[in-house]
Amino acid sequence: MPKTYSDIGLIGLAVMGQNLALNIADHGFQISVYNRTTEKTDKFVAENPSTPGGLIGTKTLEEFVQSLALPRKIVILVQAGKATDAVIDGLIPLLSPADIIIDGGNALWTDTIRREKSLKEKGLRFIGSGVSGGEEGARFGPSLMPGGDKSSWEELKPIWTAIAAKVDKKTGKPLTGAKPGQPIKGGVPCTVYIGENGAGHYVKMVHNGIEYGDMQMICEAYALMKGILGLKPAEMGEIFSTWNKGALDSFLIEITADILKQKDPVTKKPFVDIVLDTAGQKGTGKWTSVNALDMGVPAPTIAESVFARCLSAVKEERVAASKILKGPKVKKYSGSKKALIEAIHDALYCSKICSYAQGFQLMRTAQGEYGWKLNFGQIAQIFRGGCIIRAAFLQKITEAYARNPKLANLLLDEYFNKTIQKAQANWRKVIALAAEHGISTPTFSSALAYYDGYRSERSPANLLQAQRDYFGAHTYERTDVKRGKFFHIDWPEAHRPQLEA
Ligand code: 2AM
Repeated sequence: MPKTYSDIGLIGLAVMGQNLALNIADHGFQISVYNRTTEKTDKFVAENPSTPGGLIGTKTLEEFVQSLALPRKIVILVQAGKATDAVIDGLIPLLSPADIIIDGGNALWTDTIRREKSLKEKGLRFIGSGVSGGEEGARFGPSLMPGGDKSSWEELKPIWTAIAAKVDKKTGKPLTGAKPGQPIKGGVPCTVYIGENGAGHYVKMVHNGIEYGDMQMICEAYALMKGILGLKPAEMGEIFSTWNKGALDSFLIEITADILKQKDPVTKKPFVDIVLDTAGQKGTGKWTSVNALDMGVPAPTIAESVFARCLSAVKEERVAASKILKGPKVKKYSGSKKALIEAIHDALYCSKICSYAQGFQLMRTAQGEYGWKLNFGQIAQIFRGGCIIRAAFLQKITEAYARNPKLANLLLDEYFNKTIQKAQANWRKVIALAAEHGISTPTFSSALAYYDGYRSERSPANLLQAQRDYFGAHTYERTDVKRGKFFHIDWPEAHRPQLEA
């Protein structure tokens, strides 16, 4: 017998919505579901007649709202943007004070801030929760990044902690149930209250930016092995499998190994070789990069991964350019294959450290901008299970912030510093080789430029500021005077005609 009122409701039964609803029902919560197109609701409920918690299909928004226990908890999983606003607008007149709307879509964090403010004025509560892990994660344990009103988090917490992925408390290793969908005993849930208003969606956005970086870095490792060593996909697949047992152990390395070993079902050729080399994007990597520029935080490696997708997308132009623009003439690589593979591994790991350092710098600056109090160690820990960037490496970040919660930059942590010290010769060798061979490695190279720039006591910006003073009287500070005093030189008149010429 179903309960009179459901514990929670969910609107939007596309794949993510269906999977999250099933995950919630698997954990013993009764969930009402609603979809604009009723046939989808009927089919979904009919296909899943016996879940531990129970699915209640509803045909109208009114029926849906009336089926929920007070204060209502309503998860929205529709397209980000206008659809989310339309659903919220439809709900508002039907809700009671203190009801909670939870947006589980990939919303822009500033939209979440706006929605939370406007709903608060109407006496309603709002949570913007990042949901990471794709379809599989939503179904069997996502990483959940909720932000918004703290009191509503307390109401949502039992459900969110039950359905989230779990990791081992000490090692941070993802845990699994006896069977997919069965509750996981113990472990730390991959969800934590992130912060007020848009904090959850902001952190999810940066997670996606980091994910863009990780994917592109792996592609560059592949391009180098293919371009310099001429390795075949299956051979590279084995190398990635080996890497997955070490410091690079992660979901993305694991799936890369699988992909490289995969044969095309039609031609039986290596699958990667028949996939067209143009990548799409949905926008979260772009948002991360735009926000980095807006806040003046260097995140070049993440931005380069977005640009790499843009460059990949102009396929016809590249094909035409390839016939005109010639690269270097190089002899066959005569060095040790084993040593080069090791060097590419190290370049990938060092670049990854820089990319994550940039992502965490973004979050650090945003917390100042928006008045959030982010716990970076906990954030790294909830990225550990469920989500696309899940990796052993994140445990090192959690440990770094445990050592020093106020760490100015991940690069300064002793583990990361030591790791780069050990690996940087290989990293530099790989980038030099890439340049010699004419192989594009934007994330590897930009990560190294970031590292070398960040560790520079004196940058060349002295010359830059002098240029600004020359043509725009923008003034300069002096190395021999305390900071905060600004000077200007009257540049010789003789130089002006040259400048204007
Ligand atoms: P649909 O099945 O009726 O198209 C992902 O697109 C999900 O968002 C789907 O469940 C879709 O419903 C829903 N959706 C998209 N736009 C919507 C809107 N304006 N109002 C309500 N649901 C919407």
